[in-house]
Amino acid sequence: MTAVDDTPRTERQADGPVLEATGVTMRFGGLTAVNNVGMTVRQGEILGLIGPNGAGKTTFFNCLTGLYKPTEGRVRLLGNDLPPKPRAVVMAGMARTFQNIRLFGNMTALENVMVGRYCRTSSMALTSILRGPKFRREERETRARAQELLDFVGLGKSTEHLARNMPYGDQRRLEIARALATDPKLLLLDEPTAGMNPRETQQASDLIFRIRDSGLAVVVIEHDMRFIFNLCDRVLCLVNGEVLVEGTPNEVQSDPRVIEAYIGSAADDEEGDE
Ligand SMILES: Nc1ncnc2c1ncn2[C@@H]1O[C@H](COP(=O)(O)OP(=O)(O)O)[C@@H](O)[C@H]1O
Ligand SMILES: [Mg+2]
Repeated sequence: MTAVDDTPRTERQADGPVLEATGVTMRFGGLTAVNNVGMTVRQGEILGLIGPNGAGKTTFFNCLTGLYKPTEGRVRLLGNDLPPKPRAVVMAGMARTFQNIRLFGNMTALENVMVGRYCRTSSMALTSILRGPKFRREERETRARAQELLDFVGLGKSTEHLARNMPYGDQRRLEIARALATDPKLLLLDEPTAGMNPRETQQASDLIFRIRDSGLAVVVIEHDMRFIFNLCDRVLCLVNGEVLVEGTPNEVQSDPRVIEAYIGSAADDEEGDE
């Protein structure tokens, strides 16, 4: 099976980049968290976004996904300008997961994925009240699709588990399934392996490859260098809100500026430790 349906979207550009962000700047009062960042994501690509803590990675994701309205800059998805509103961004074909997992803890795994699906079905307001045949058909399809996605991420046996009782690694995969339920063309993952053991990290890698193979482009924020360099076609290193280095994993991992940025920040972290 595939993680996306094949319905062609009229607005889709066949060979242009999936995402084109130019000159994205985000200021909070006097602090410039993201400064003039550009990023292009091509079809079928896995792009890594690395950089020390506080570099602006999550803030940049928030600018792309409409959680923040960037102070300056432009974000285009499949050739269209994106309105800085989370729902509009999801509808346009971009989905994400969060550094701090955001699931509905008291809902089952299946229900969490079904929630992601509702943005693609019509039966929200009136039909759900009237519970007509159309509602029942859509409900069945939504359920089947959600189950398919749980199988795809390896949670096929956890369908009825409450999200809050699931192991941490499973919650991360569940969040990915929910994001996939919105039929994205581009998936943004914010530290998908944080808190995972090596086996779960390997599974996450395999899952991201399968997502890419099913036709999505993926951008991954991650601290685990081995994970990033094995996974990604290209890597961007962000430091102090700016792109320090961009290149292939080989280019980036041997760049003295990247090493310096990480060693510098590791020393800062140690000083800051209580
Ligand atoms: N909503 C906000 N208001 C003020 N400052 C923020 C806000 N969000 C992030 N920042 C600041 O922006 C900088 C970048 O943070 P963040 O994007 O979370 O970094 P990263 O994800 O790379 O660790 C940090 O200095 C952080 O404190
Ligand atoms: Mg972050």
